Amino acid sequence: MENFTFYNPTKIIFGKGEENKIGEILKKDNIKKVLFIYGKGSIKKIGLYDKVVESLKKANIEFIEYSGVRPNPILSHTLEGIKLAKHEKVEAILAVGGGSVIDEGKAIAVGAVTEENVWVYFKHEKEVQAALPLYAILTLAATGTEMNGNAVITNEETKEKLYISSPFIYPKVSILNPELTFTVPLKYQAYAAVDVIAHTIELYFSGETCPKIQSRFIEALIKTVMESTQKILENPQDYEARAEFMWASTLALNGLVQIGIKGGAFHNHMIAHAIGGLYDLPHGACLSIVIPAWMNWFKQKNIKQFERFAQKIFNKSSVEEGIESLKTWFKKIGAPVSLSEAGLPSNAIDEITKIVIKIAPIWNLSHIYNEDAIREILSFAK
Ligand code: NZQ
Ligand code: ZN
Repeated sequence: MENFTFYNPTKIIFGKGEENKIGEILKKDNIKKVLFIYGKGSIKKIGLYDKVVESLKKANIEFIEYSGVRPNPILSHTLEGIKLAKHEKVEAILAVGGGSVIDEGKAIAVGAVTEENVWVYFKHEKEVQAALPLYAILTLAATGTEMNGNAVITNEETKEKLYISSPFIYPKVSILNPELTFTVPLKYQAYAAVDVIAHTIELYFSGETCPKIQSRFIEALIKTVMESTQKILENPQDYEARAEFMWASTLALNGLVQIGIKGGAFHNHMIAHAIGGLYDLPHGACLSIVIPAWMNWFKQKNIKQFERFAQKIFNKSSVEEGIESLKTWFKKIGAPVSLSEAGLPSNAIDEITKIVIKIAPIWNLSHIYNEDAIREILSFAK
């Protein structure tokens, strides 16, 4: 096992009705004015908006609303939010929604306390030095952003979808009520399942060594995700299945999965972000296209772990059967597994390749991925 430091300061409050406590939580932290950020309106449809407003009013917390965050949040909307946060002198960000809303909230939290254009941090030209505290109520379990220090934003002009990673942007408190996810559209639920599995397997496959405890932990998460997703697709209001899925998605990207693994990187995410930035495709749908193709390309570099995956997850003896079974499962839940199925144009491979080459240094992967490698991977996903 490699040496490691584990740090995670986010307080998680999990369970039914916990969202009603948000006003009290802010008050206890001595916060008097927040930027209340949300998406295109699902929180109103599910009655969450009213509950949040009632709780904030009861606790005498002043709030400035900022809505309209879109899936794959964009830089221009983030910059407007930063302006508003500065103008209103808010003391904290309250993000209510899925990964996109929380990520944009994190970027606003960073931008609100600096004169820099926040994009310099996403380009990795400068390091984040500070941020406003962020509080989250999660409505879509997938990304793990509710308990990590990452945020992903797309610059819609350059079509670059980039991330920041900083200890300053862990949410202070995240409220996770599985009931709030009952209404997540089923296609997004499928993308969410792919995303969570992706977070667990990136280092599992690409690390040079993976301690047994980590392999077993990851396999438990994958099995939980597969089992609970099937139950959710049959009955979206299955509380236990929603709860298991939600907690699995948090654990998959809060730092625990990576522990003690030697090396490794987020190879699939790099390629998926190139696709997402170019074509505005949901993150999980980009991953379901990339993962089986990448597995076929990468398998020889870590054949033992690929065999283990086939055996432990699908009870199959060959690596190829393992990869095929995962691909079949992605298809079964409604996630695309090829570029054409996702409706991407015929020059997609050229365009994606160009972007991956450009962003690979940020992912510390330019030593592995040249143009030929990317083309070869994507040719498995035509
Ligand atoms: O716009 P609203 O009304 O919020 O609707 C959203 C959106 O249309 C809807 N939705 C969310 N909760 C709902 C709901 N609809 C009904 N009922 C509910 N309870 O679902 C749609 C998708 O939401 P979005 O937030 O975009 O999805 P997700 O949580 O998958 O977030 C995706 C973003 O997170 C990034 C992705 O790249 C993408 O930009 N990621 C962030 C990471 C991180 N910060 O650590 C890691 C991930 O790898 C990922 O890159
Ligand atoms: Zn992801």
